[in-house]
Amino acid sequence: MIKKALFPAAGYGTRFLPATKSVPKEMLPIVNKPLIHYGIQECMNAGIYEIGFVTGRSKRAIEDYLDFNPEIEEKVKDSSKAKLLHETNEMINRCTFTYVRQKEMLGLGHAVLTGEPLIGNNPFAVVLADDLCEGDVLSQMVKLYKKYKCSIVAIEEVPQEEVNKYGVIKGKEIEDGVFMVEDMVEKPEVDKAPSNLAIIGRYILTPEIFELLKITKPGKGGEIQLTDALLKQAKESMVIAYKFKGKRFDCGSVAGFVEATNYFYKRDF
Ligand code: G1P
Repeated sequence: MIKKALFPAAGYGTRFLPATKSVPKEMLPIVNKPLIHYGIQECMNAGIYEIGFVTGRSKRAIEDYLDFNPEIEEKVKDSSKAKLLHETNEMINRCTFTYVRQKEMLGLGHAVLTGEPLIGNNPFAVVLADDLCEGDVLSQMVKLYKKYKCSIVAIEEVPQEEVNKYGVIKGKEIEDGVFMVEDMVEKPEVDKAPSNLAIIGRYILTPEIFELLKITKPGKGGEIQLTDALLKQAKESMVIAYKFKGKRFDCGSVAGFVEATNYFYKRDF
């Protein structure tokens, strides 16, 4: 069973400067809820309540969000606004949140490895909060994990000219929407990509990934890439890629952020 999730959240979010000078990018709100709120909700819907964050300097707002604020509670109690705190309070009551700091930004693979003390020898989910998903992608992946018991990456088809923004897989379709990974490249050049099946920010990883990350050399951009460690795992044992059902918003880009804002405003308000 998957009981734990890891949120790498140490990045600077430079595309959202100047806001990210003092607000962690994971705390930027889609309407009235920060990105991590949606990610944690997705975890809870998948039965995951032990949530670890790999943070860095200037990320304290994440911890404050996931803790009670008696002053505000007191202020809104008995008013119609009290209900605005219900979902967050439920998260605080039901989940445990743990934190570790990544001291240097050496890539996603390095961030995941930094989270090892929070995960231990357990299979776990990874959520990149700036990929905002609708449709309970993690629940779909947890189901698939029960069947295959191996690392899983979520994928979606992207326009060919955008493959250089993602990890891209090549694989053999073994059941509808499920691919056995044969190759995986981090941010390939557009004309050299093995396909247009891009990895999006949802993973289920078996704990063997930590040993592989420890021996993974810096790759694309001089960073330790999770994609490279996963390729090793695919070759040594098995990794599958899953074309999830649902919709993903790239909230790491301004256009995707605005699209998500409009979508969730229409859906929830
Ligand atoms: C990371 C991964 C990449 C993946 C992407 C999904 O890249 O390295 O393989 O496709 O997340 O959002 P980043 O967007 O952090 O550069």
